[in-house]
Amino acid sequence: MPSLVVVGAQWGDEGKGRIIDLLSKRADIVVRFQGGCNAGHTLIVDDHRLALHLIPAGIVHTHTLCIIGNGVVVDPQALLEEMERLRGLQIDISPKRLLISDRAHVTFTYHRLLDAAREATGSKLRLGTTQRGIGPTYVDKVERVGIRMTDLLDGERLRKKLELNFEQKAHLLSRLPKDERPNIDELCERYLEYGKMLAPFICDTTLILNEALRSGKNVLFEGAQGAGLDVDFGTFPFVTSSNTIAGAVCIGAGVPPKFINAVIGVTKAYTTRVGSGPFPTELNDETGEKLREIGMEYGATTGRPRRCGWLDLVQLRFAARINGFDALVLTKLDVLDQFEEVKVCIAYEYNGQKISEFPACSEVLSECRPVYETLKGWMQPTRHIRNYRDLPKNAQRFAEFISQELGIPIGLISVGPKCDDVIVLDERWVNYRF
Ligand code: GDP
Ligand code: IMO
Ligand code: MG
Repeated sequence: MPSLVVVGAQWGDEGKGRIIDLLSKRADIVVRFQGGCNAGHTLIVDDHRLALHLIPAGIVHTHTLCIIGNGVVVDPQALLEEMERLRGLQIDISPKRLLISDRAHVTFTYHRLLDAAREATGSKLRLGTTQRGIGPTYVDKVERVGIRMTDLLDGERLRKKLELNFEQKAHLLSRLPKDERPNIDELCERYLEYGKMLAPFICDTTLILNEALRSGKNVLFEGAQGAGLDVDFGTFPFVTSSNTIAGAVCIGAGVPPKFINAVIGVTKAYTTRVGSGPFPTELNDETGEKLREIGMEYGATTGRPRRCGWLDLVQLRFAARINGFDALVLTKLDVLDQFEEVKVCIAYEYNGQKISEFPACSEVLSECRPVYETLKGWMQPTRHIRNYRDLPKNAQRFAEFISQELGIPIGLISVGPKCDDVIVLDERWVNYRF
């Protein structure tokens, strides 16, 4: 039962999509277990950039079954649009290829409006969310008034649940501009229609998933966001509303812990972050600009420029601990090809003291100054390299430094956005032999 969890080790956008694309070649099932269409996972298919938001990136390989687990929040409109987009690329989107958990919570149009209203200028806590309604949908789930995919299949049930949901959040809805306030009749009609279109895909996904794990199929769990955005362990409150770490697989897919075999953390060779929140190694200078331009660091979901900075090993060490990484995937190494020197943060300085643990408190983190180790750059292109021994010596030293500091082996190094732009250091990860 080789099951492999792949999660983001930083603040999202580490290149999970292109790694899932690669690892899907040998996967039978690929599963999303948290987050929603706030995710933007980019892969390159026939020289076209494709950004996936809700559907697992394994969908581009015809042999995989893709599952949207119960822990995901599903915006049916966004999902149907994504399905159409993929069909336009001649990708078969049938229940043989895609299943959606009947227990996944539904994002309605008003969740998006509430997300946007909370983010509006003047709001005291601007998180810089993707405004996809993620937070409000998870709030409803925890508040126990959420509506699930299974509810879209029964008109009467849907109406009753919408009424209850509206009753509970009347005060919030009344703050929306009059012409934006949702109408239960319209919502019922529209979401029942979505339910009809999605009905063939909706089922109890735990059955097929657990059966597959028991019978030894290769199962790949595709994390969204990253450890720094985890609602418990991230830079709270500047986080997303789900648990993004490996432990979330069990809850978000309905899989017992004993079925998880290995965990891989994906990290860029530097750091990026979108939205608000502390970021100790952020570079608000020419170097940060250079990282953004070479790395093409603009959001796959919202198009926002990403904040850029050097690699932060204090943050990564914490991410490694809470996820239990068996290996790291180092992505975007090629972006550093044109830097004379490359810095890596090994500790923070806070109130005149050196600290090496990632603080719980965002206020403290925002006052931490990075302590850097400066390594020599390699000033040579690496995009074409496929063997570790062919990497420039200084690039090898950079990778080894990270691996040694964290005490975790590097399994793969990505040197470009395409599926095969990769150096495989340990074949086990691509062959599911662990
Ligand atoms: P995800 O959310 O973790 O899947 O990452 P995104 O797709 O949001 O962002 C990663 C971006 O970097 C995408 O534009 C990828 O095409 C690109 N990318 C991924 N790996 C590499 C790499 O090794 N080198 C370069 N230059 N680009 C990469
Ligand atoms: P992938 O899967 C990067 C960030 C938002 C914001 C915070 C909360 O592509 O790595 P939300 O809309 O989730 O309530 O926003 O989280 N964020 C991401 N940043 N990559 C993502 O996903 C993200 N999903 C959410 O920018 O700071
Ligand atoms: Mg992304």
